[in-house]
Amino acid sequence: MIAQIEALQAEVEAFAPKTPAEVEAFRIRLLGKKGSITALFDAFKSAPVEEKRTLGQALNRLKTTAAQRIEELRTALEEAALAAGAGDGAEMDMTRPATAERVGTRHPISLVRNRILDIFGCIGFVPADGPEIEDDWHVFTALNFPPEHPARDMQDTFFVEKDPDILLRTHTSSIQVRVMQNQRPPIRVICPGRVFRNEAISYRAHCIFHQVEGLYIDRNVSFADLKQTILHFAKEMFGEKSEIRMRPSYFPFTEPSTEVDVSCNLCGGKGCAVCKHTGWLEIMGAGMVDPNVLEACGIDSREYSGFAFGMGVERIAMLKYGVKDLRLYFENDLRFLRQFTPVF
Ligand code: PHE
Repeated sequence: MIAQIEALQAEVEAFAPKTPAEVEAFRIRLLGKKGSITALFDAFKSAPVEEKRTLGQALNRLKTTAAQRIEELRTALEEAALAAGAGDGAEMDMTRPATAERVGTRHPISLVRNRILDIFGCIGFVPADGPEIEDDWHVFTALNFPPEHPARDMQDTFFVEKDPDILLRTHTSSIQVRVMQNQRPPIRVICPGRVFRNEAISYRAHCIFHQVEGLYIDRNVSFADLKQTILHFAKEMFGEKSEIRMRPSYFPFTEPSTEVDVSCNLCGGKGCAVCKHTGWLEIMGAGMVDPNVLEACGIDSREYSGFAFGMGVERIAMLKYGVKDLRLYFENDLRFLRQFTPVF
């Protein structure tokens, strides 16, 4: 038995594996359940008493050296394998800071649109949606545009088909027409969407832009309700100190109609380059829904009245973020888009 122990001892010392797998096979052959060292421990139990001392010492030494050598070789070979595979082995530096994941950012137009929807959502306006490709009736006729109105002209509208006229909507008021056709008052909706107009693209005009329009129809809705609703919006969007001013205007679908200005939030109304020294910034069009529009959509104009308003999201974003060139919103340049976080 002592000869066997010495032979194994020599084998352990001479063992020169090339791979971690060889080390593992060696471990199993010696120290595994059916390994030769394990077998020697079994045989040791029945060895003559007078030999037990020497045998026991030799056996324990063999087991310890075998275990140590296997461990050393395994570590050395695993490290060598990693270093070879990883070039400089840098991946295994557990103290190295993780590479930051780049998360996406919201588009400034989405940020502003969502904020507008939030503000109106809090006072009961429910979002409504509609198609971007529309017919003439929903975009113009139902909204009281006379047949010869210039907005119907090829200059402004992108036509998809002629007779019957199918076109890209030029404003999101068409969504409101659809809502009025399908719902009975009280109606309180907020309609966001893309709109299209045949304009030459420049820093201040684009053929695609975004609108949010609102509509409120019920019994006894008055101009005072419109005014308070817009004032509330202006304060939420541009700050508590904001004031609004209404100038008479004209839209075919509202009577009376108004254009709404908000006090310039940059100079506090004193006058600066942004507000062109007027102290005021134009933010939207609005008015009382023309009775003709209500009737066209099947709503009794003697019983119900309502107000509507509409604003350009790019315009509000420009006032909020100071981005003056509209084209930047459509170019998807990451250097531009990554700069935006909610400012609300
Ligand atoms: N639809 C109008 C536009 O596109 C905006 C508007 C909406 C004006 C509702 C008044 C009332 O310019």
